This record gives sequence, structure tokens and C-alpha cells, in this order.
Amino acid sequence: MRTQVGIIGAGPAGLLLSHLLHLRGISSVVLEKRSRDYVERRVRAGVLEQGTVDTLVAAGVGGRLLREGLSHHGIELRYGGAGHRIPFEKLVPGRAITVYGQQEVVKDLIAARLEAGGDVRFEVEDVAVHSPGDRPYLTFGGERLDCDVIAGCDGFHGVSRPSVPPGVLRTYERDYPFAWLGILARVAPSSEELIYARTERGFALHSMRTPEISRFYLQVPPDAGEAEWPDERIWAELKARLETVPGFTLTTGEIIEKGVTPMRGFVTEPMQYGRLYLAGDAAHIVPPTGAKGLNLAVADVRVLTEALAAFFRDGSTELLDGYSGACLKRVWRAQHFSWWMTTLLHTFDSDDDYGRKLQLSYLDYVTSSDAAATTLAENYVGLPLEG
Ligand code: APR
Ligand code: PHB
Repeated sequence: MRTQVGIIGAGPAGLLLSHLLHLRGISSVVLEKRSRDYVERRVRAGVLEQGTVDTLVAAGVGGRLLREGLSHHGIELRYGGAGHRIPFEKLVPGRAITVYGQQEVVKDLIAARLEAGGDVRFEVEDVAVHSPGDRPYLTFGGERLDCDVIAGCDGFHGVSRPSVPPGVLRTYERDYPFAWLGILARVAPSSEELIYARTERGFALHSMRTPEISRFYLQVPPDAGEAEWPDERIWAELKARLETVPGFTLTTGEIIEKGVTPMRGFVTEPMQYGRLYLAGDAAHIVPPTGAKGLNLAVADVRVLTEALAAFFRDGSTELLDGYSGACLKRVWRAQHFSWWMTTLLHTFDSDDDYGRKLQLSYLDYVTSSDAAATTLAENYVGLPLEG
């Protein structure tokens, strides 16, 4: 078997890449180890930057997103007994975010690929990368797929990054001393906009998916197991952390999904080796506080598509050679923003009174100065994409 681009992983990165390449007349095969059902149900974040929405719409996969996505023009920062709105319409006019679950994006992309006759294979076993340096090929389940190029879109725990010879990639990492417990609940959101809440008990986030489904996160110890968090305890803690301003009541309901997400920042440099290009979580992850993971994956894939289009058009490798450099600027901006949001809002060492005072001072600044609030707003809605 042969294809122009062998893609490992049917997450947002791999699926969108396959779709964008198809629109340029470039063939690809997507190999995914999980089932279609599994990837379509996997609950992740749900905040799309303006540029991500524009990319999906321009690629013809934004129909349902435009109908069902919730456009948000601000977020609330809640701390010290008061809520403070960061108004995007005033600070970054014309730019907003859209709340639409990542797995909905994945469903839309799978439907588009299959409708166009795309080759997306699920439940593929033992994918392995061979000769990534020059004549790459993939093997899986006893088959061989020769490729001009391989795109490693297989997430943080995939096989593509470890297939690069030792010593080539440098990695940068930041671990946080806590995790997020995330839930989906069958209950109308208690707020029209997202609430990022800092309390002495820890951070809480009120988000949503639809007018009937809410999404919440709680800062929890890094080793927290779901078993330690029965539903009543989750609601009690969410109430304690969110019902901190006069007149706000949290409506509770049936919890339909629960999961613990580790908090980590990670970047690999470069994001390429020979004919292997890493995109999305395979190359970098961010703590979810800034909701940048999916958006960064989309930005990578846009850059990679342009570079591959030039390569297959006239053999030019200039853009491919510059792929990593072009992506890493945005990657590091998102790393910083995610680290900053995380640091601002979470409870760290309870003995660190100095750190607490700094947090509160910065929160006061962000919520009282337009200059500081604009920094938050323009990073949150997403800095302009190249190209
Ligand atoms: N073989 C085949 N597929 C694999 C393998 C493997 N060895 N290892 C992992 N995969 C698949 C996973 O099952 C997953 O479907 O690769 C896919 C990677 O998808 P994501 O983890 O969603 O990563 P990505 O597409 O880069 O999307 C980034 O999604 O992961 C979230 O939080 C992340 O929001 C961010 C965005
Ligand atoms: C979500 O809705 O899942 C979500 C929202 C905002 C974040 C992270 C996750 O910062």
C-alpha cells in the first residue's frame, strides 16, 4: 500500500490534516488505534478560538458548529467574594470564542472524511514508524504502508515521538502539583458565561456544552482517583467554590461523565525529524486552564498543510524545513498563557502567603486595568493565525 501522507491518530490534529490535504488533492491514510465510537465519545475541552472556527468553516466542516456552538463574548473571573467580567467585545472587538465540545469537532471531521471517501482506519493494532529519516513507512496489523511523509498526530502517549532517534529532540516540561477533575452534568448552566473561580479551597471552572449540559472542573490533588469523588462530594465542592458571590446559586443535576486530567506543560523541539512531522499533543501539551490544546493542534495542522502542499506541488522543502520554527512561536505563547492562567487561579502551597498575595494583586490588576485585561482577552480568543 502507498499514500502520500501517512497519518497516525484520529484526534482533531490527524483528522483535520487529512481533510485539509484532501481539499488540496493530496492523499492520506489515517491509522487510529481506538474505535470510532471511543474517539467520538472522548470528552475533552470545548473552547474554540476565532481562528479555529474560521479554519473549520473555511474547510467546509463548520455547519453544525455554526448552528450549535455557543458564541461567548466574555468570561468571568471570580475571587475574593466578587465576580469580574472580562469583556471581549470591548477589549478585542470582533473576536470571540465558541463553546463546542472537542468530540463534536471530531465527529464532524470523521463524517466529512468518510463522506469524501477518505481512508480512516479505526482499531488498528501495533502501528510502528520505520525509517522516519528518509524513506518512511508504517506497519500495522501485519500490513505495510509506504508514505512520502508521516504525520505523527497520535497525542502525548503515541508512538511517533518515541520513534525519533535518541538525542535529536529536546523536551521542555513543567508539572503542576494538582490535577483537574472534570464532569459533564445534565443540567442547564447556572451562568451564561464561563466562570474561572479562585478560592482558598482551590480552583473551579464552570463551563457548558449546550443549554441542557454543563461542564465543570475542580482543582484536585495530583493523585486523586475518581472513586474518591462521589457525586455528592463533587457538587458540595463546586458549590463551596462557586457560590461565593451574592445571589449566585449553582443548579445541580445528574453527572453523566467524570474524569481526572493531569496538569502539565510539555514541548518538544524541533517538531520534526527527516520525513516525520509531529502535530498537536504529540509535540506539545498545555495545562487546560487556557483551553489552548485543540486550538494549537489546529494551528500546527494549518502550517503543515501549506508546507506539504508546496512540497507535493513542486518538490520544494523550504516550508517543510521551517515547519517546526513556524509552529513553535505560537506553541510557546500558548505555553506561557496557560502557565500564567494556571498560576493566577490555582491554590499552590498553603504556606506560601507571599505567592497568595501576588496572585491576588495580579487578579486585581487584570480586573481593573484595560491594558492587563486586554492581554488576557487577546490570548484567550487567540492571536491571529499566520497565512
Ligand atoms: N496508534 C494509533 N493511534 C494512536 C496511537 C497509536 N500508537 N497512540 C495514540 N493514538 C491516537 C489516540 O487514540 C487519539 O485518538 O491518536 C489520537 C490523538 O488524538 P488527541 O489525543 O486528541 O490529540 P490531537 O489530535 O493532537 O488533539 C489535541 O486534543 O488531546 C486533546 O487536549 C488535547 O485538546 C487537545 C487536542
Ligand atoms: C471546557 O469547557 O471543557 C473548558 C473550558 C475552558 C477551559 C478548559 C476547558 O479553560
